Amino acid sequence: MCGIFAYLNYRVPHTRKEIFETLVKGLQRLEYRGYDSAGIAVDGPRKTATDINNNSICLIKKKGKVKALDEELYKKDSLDLDEELNTHFGLAHTRWATHGEPSAVNSHPHRSDKENEFVVIHNGIITNYKELKAYLITKGYEFESETDTEVIPKLTKYVYDNKEKDITFSTLVEKVIQQLEGAFALVFKSRHYPGEAVSTRRGSPLLIGVRSEHELSTENIPIQYNTARVQEKNSHNRPDCSNGINSVGNGSAVEYYFASDASAIIEHTNKVLYLEDNDIAAVSGGKLSIHRINRQAGEDPVRAIQTLQMELQQIMKGNFDAFMQKEIFEQPESVVNTMRGRICFDTKTVLLGGLKDHLKEIKRCRRLIVIGCGTSFHAAVATRQVLEELTELSVMVELASDFLDRNTPVFRDDVCFFISQSGETADTLMALRYCKNQGALTVGITNTVGSSICRETDCGVHINAGPEIGVASTKAYTSQFVALVMFGLMMSEDRLSLQQRRLEILNGLKDLPELIKKVLAQDKKIKTIAEELYQQKSLLVMGRGFHYATCLEGALKIKEITYMHSEGILAGELKHGPLALIDKDMPVIMIIMRDACYTKCQNALQQVTARSGRPIIICCQDDTDMCKNAYQTIELPHTVDCLQGILSVIPLQLMSFHLAVLRGYDVDFPRNLAKSVTVE
Ligand code: F6R
Repeated sequence: MCGIFAYLNYRVPHTRKEIFETLVKGLQRLEYRGYDSAGIAVDGPRKTATDINNNSICLIKKKGKVKALDEELYKKDSLDLDEELNTHFGLAHTRWATHGEPSAVNSHPHRSDKENEFVVIHNGIITNYKELKAYLITKGYEFESETDTEVIPKLTKYVYDNKEKDITFSTLVEKVIQQLEGAFALVFKSRHYPGEAVSTRRGSPLLIGVRSEHELSTENIPIQYNTARVQEKNSHNRPDCSNGINSVGNGSAVEYYFASDASAIIEHTNKVLYLEDNDIAAVSGGKLSIHRINRQAGEDPVRAIQTLQMELQQIMKGNFDAFMQKEIFEQPESVVNTMRGRICFDTKTVLLGGLKDHLKEIKRCRRLIVIGCGTSFHAAVATRQVLEELTELSVMVELASDFLDRNTPVFRDDVCFFISQSGETADTLMALRYCKNQGALTVGITNTVGSSICRETDCGVHINAGPEIGVASTKAYTSQFVALVMFGLMMSEDRLSLQQRRLEILNGLKDLPELIKKVLAQDKKIKTIAEELYQQKSLLVMGRGFHYATCLEGALKIKEITYMHSEGILAGELKHGPLALIDKDMPVIMIIMRDACYTKCQNALQQVTARSGRPIIICCQDDTDMCKNAYQTIELPHTVDCLQGILSVIPLQLMSFHLAVLRGYDVDFPRNLAKSVTVE
């Protein structure tokens, strides 16, 4: 739920002010992960620029957004902003509270003691923190915060004080994490190990960017298994990790960036490596090495340095007021990026490279189970019918949390899809691990390369929508939708009876970007409708068939960023309860497209108008019948029924955006929500 950023400059001189700027910029990129408080840890004043020993560590923490922290940094009179720091390691963190209210004391970095011997930033949750805290209290430790995280620096000091003093920093951290249960990405800094960094993860994401004045000496970092322990006997605090990046001997300048995701790193370097669970990555003497306790069977013994394909401009707001708005308007391109290189419109074929080796197995399966949370779940609901039709399999759609609560029976011949923009959602990840244990084939549909869901599934599809920064998911939804439809098309390639239908859908996909542009062109009209609605308390969104998912997704968008009550209602259920809500004052948006449910939707419309309801209808262009009965209409270009939901959701994305702005809310940072929900 939180964002981690840390920066180590080795023999790359920077003033303290420049280091502050790097840390703050990193946090700003990660602010979507949490924004109730933020903090940094940097070295205190030094005798000289190159003297990194005997330095103090200074913590600066502030409740509120990163901007508040940024202002606070320049108020610290004791820190000379122009002081040059030749080698330095700084930590930064933006928090989304799970244990303890948002406050300066609960924000990270957390510390071992008043002397700040060890300081730590953490993303995740330590489930056995109460036991550890109780133990440490018996050992005389005093806790200052209500967080689970604080046990980590205190435990680190406890282990340090009770072990041989020449223990390496990474071995120390290895001993600490053996005591931790739960999920974590951690970065450690210590007065005892000046200029050194140690980071590790289990269940929460963490990657390291590397910028070096020389070509990197290797593209693969070999993992060291238990070697650190042998080395530490011979070398005081400086393991000779001969296979890492850089070398202690040549002492060349190098910079390392530790972050929860690549958006915080990309403006500095595109060379990154993703840590795996239980990896311990340490930088000592400017050199990065990775070690693990034991090698597991089948485990990759190296961590590859990868080149990020992301561009900085992809994560900037451009001319838009909010990331969410930018991402809504990116959809003509993002859906093309999802299809790029995968559909051949001439041969009418679809090839999803990540699935091709498993296609036979998928075709033989008993059923497909599609699992996700929030918007990602809605993408599963939206495509269920077309998947049933094209795969001729039974398709279950499941909310990850509920799926786990029910201990849902899963069999070896099931194929389980996990839909997730971030690839890190804890509920979805737990469901994935559960299905894997049951022996099912697991498939990831994610937007984040290198994410946990990507790495833990047997195979998958990357939706290529580009970074999604706005907390409210928009372009990821339409790209997930397209990816799932493409999967259906790939499955049905050899079904003669489905060829006509496939052709229709392929043509629809080809035209999709232009049709999305036509919907976006109605933004002004949608804003005008929003101006009439923004002071309302409630807003119902009603539809059925292919548009039920649009109702759920539209209502979710409205509630999460406008804080209005909003419900997505299946029109077929209207008379079973929701009709009681309808009167002349209740705003209702109805989605009535010319598809198999058209007549049934008209019945629902009559029931609404008969109770003096004044529906705003999203309908097909030139549907004069609808225009007659509606208080307002939003007319959409027509496409094949199973893709129409991609067009019908866009007016609701725009509507929620305008309602939120009119109500005076920060669209990209809705209260109480975080982009990546890495706790259950
Ligand atoms: C809504 C929203 C959330 C996410 C949900 C799953 O706008 O963003 O409902 O869809 O938390 O997240 P991912 O897709 O990252 O697994």
